[in-house]
Amino acid sequence: MDFSNKVAIVTGAGGGIGEAYAKSIAALGAAVAIADINEAGAQRVAGEIKASGGKAFSVKVDVSKEESCKAMADAVVAEFGGIDFLVNNAAIYGGMEMHSLMDVPYAYWQKFMSVNMDGCLLVTRAVAPHMEKRGGGSIVNQSSSAAWLPRAGYYGIAKLALNGITQNLAMELGPKKIRVNGIAPGPTDTEATRTSTSEGLVDSIVASLALARMGEVKDMADACNFLLSDEASWITGQILCVDGGFIM
Ligand code: NAI
Repeated sequence: MDFSNKVAIVTGAGGGIGEAYAKSIAALGAAVAIADINEAGAQRVAGEIKASGGKAFSVKVDVSKEESCKAMADAVVAEFGGIDFLVNNAAIYGGMEMHSLMDVPYAYWQKFMSVNMDGCLLVTRAVAPHMEKRGGGSIVNQSSSAAWLPRAGYYGIAKLALNGITQNLAMELGPKKIRVNGIAPGPTDTEATRTSTSEGLVDSIVASLALARMGEVKDMADACNFLLSDEASWITGQILCVDGGFIM
């Protein structure tokens, strides 16, 4: 795959899976905007990409705020001249054990949904008009196996909504030659997984997988690159489970 002359935005790229997405896209030749609410993380990742010869730019964004998303998209266009790819990866995660629908304070539910559900829509609405100006584009939304698990509480519900947003946007943006797909990772080895989920829970899920190992960030990056690329040019509205056989 060759992403030379492409411009990509990865939200939540200041660490974890988003960092792997950004570095992998940059390694294929694209200029990558590292968009995160965590400015220090975004600057570190952009610096590391540049140090290894890639093109990167860090930009602060709060994906739950419409004006912030618009300002981020405009800043990327000012820096790189346009936008071809978007990966909506940013999310918060409270830990699966805390996801009781009966107990979650309503204010937290609203904050959670504004980042994990609305964020994908707000960033896409800010970015898609710029893709249209380039004659098309490709968007990947970061879902989760949790979308298929009724016990995954509001985290799973937000990802289920994100799958619906993905399919609806695929229909709406298809005529503009913008493809919209999703990736649903299973348990993946990141700092967030290690600190927010009890070890026993992750171990028991991993033991139940057809391919009984934890996901690596590279597993996700390889799938993301495929969905972004022209190799997937007739694929849209799909949620690709990259999960060792967890959901099938
Ligand atoms: P992470 O916590 O390392 O990464 C999330 C990033 O999003 C962080 O850099 C954070 O600063 C950023 N972020 C949070 N709120 C934001 C906001 N309002 N605006 C902009 N950026 C914001 O987590 P991880 O594990 O890398 O997860 C990345 C994505 O993958 C998330 O969408 C998560 O739900 C999904 N996922 C992760 C799995 C795992 O096992 N780690 C499994 C399935 C899905």
